[in-house]
Amino acid sequence: ESTLGAAAAQSGRYFGTAIAAGRLGDSAYTTIAGREFTMVTPENEMKIDATEPQQGQFNFSGGDQVYNWAVQHGMRVRGHTLAWHNQQPGWMQSLSGSALRQAMINHINGVMAHYKGKLAYWDVVNEAFADDGSGGRRDSNLQRTGNDWIEVAFRTARAADPNVKLCYNDYNIENWNAAKTQGVYNMVRDFKSRGVPIDCVGLQSHFNSGDPYNSNFRTTLQNFAALGVDVAITELDVQGASPTTYANVTNDCLAVSRCVGITVWGVRDSDSWRSGDTPLLFDGNGNKKPAYTAVLNAL
Ligand code: XIL
Repeated sequence: ESTLGAAAAQSGRYFGTAIAAGRLGDSAYTTIAGREFTMVTPENEMKIDATEPQQGQFNFSGGDQVYNWAVQHGMRVRGHTLAWHNQQPGWMQSLSGSALRQAMINHINGVMAHYKGKLAYWDVVNEAFADDGSGGRRDSNLQRTGNDWIEVAFRTARAADPNVKLCYNDYNIENWNAAKTQGVYNMVRDFKSRGVPIDCVGLQSHFNSGDPYNSNFRTTLQNFAALGVDVAITELDVQGASPTTYANVTNDCLAVSRCVGITVWGVRDSDSWRSGDTPLLFDGNGNKKPAYTAVLNAL
């Protein structure tokens, strides 16, 4: 096959990218993105600060731009993200307790009503676990509303749109032996055992070159999938774009039947949130890098 999307489709998977509304006027960008990918995640446009800049006043202009571009190019969309400690509008940052809990519920209902029936996945909750090696929750204003905030978010989301797949998304949960991975795994197992609605786990997969690539990534994908959820690689980028790392990640997804697809976090290195790491599949001039060929050959 000659594109990432077509190659991934051979096994029933998608190959996606983050798309930024502000770049849709750049024809070099849209030419590559329109050709190669079959799934789109809005990089910032569906986050809380973008969609509810003032409490109770929703703004879907950026989100709709990305959504419409994706649909016009035959692509599906992963919504990102409804409840997160980061990129909260100022009004939400200053809330706490039951007022914040209700604001979270209202936010989920307001955004999901607008996109009801349109999206393939929603990252309902993003990055709720701590990096401190405890395997516990991250401290945040949302966490301080009570430990049940995540399940309330998922139950609210299911009721708001019963047809979209609901995901928990996080970083540094790729290594099976990490306490953070175990913490997320235990939450998903608990949710499945109690009937809390969750359909998928997104592993962001922001890799550094200095970190040894985790040879147990496939084990992590398999273990989450065995709980009865889909898994996806949702924000892949690799410092230095090692072709070997990219091929390994691709092969790990292909080895797990419930790994539904791979999304890279941007098109060209110059589009990346970590552009200094040149972590993507296309260079700043839009040329295919060795990592591109490694992924295409692995698919
Ligand atoms: C990043 C975007 O790429 C940047 O443009 C923005 O300034 C900050 O957020 N984890 C996530 C993504 O879930 O939403 C983040 O995206 C990268 C880390």
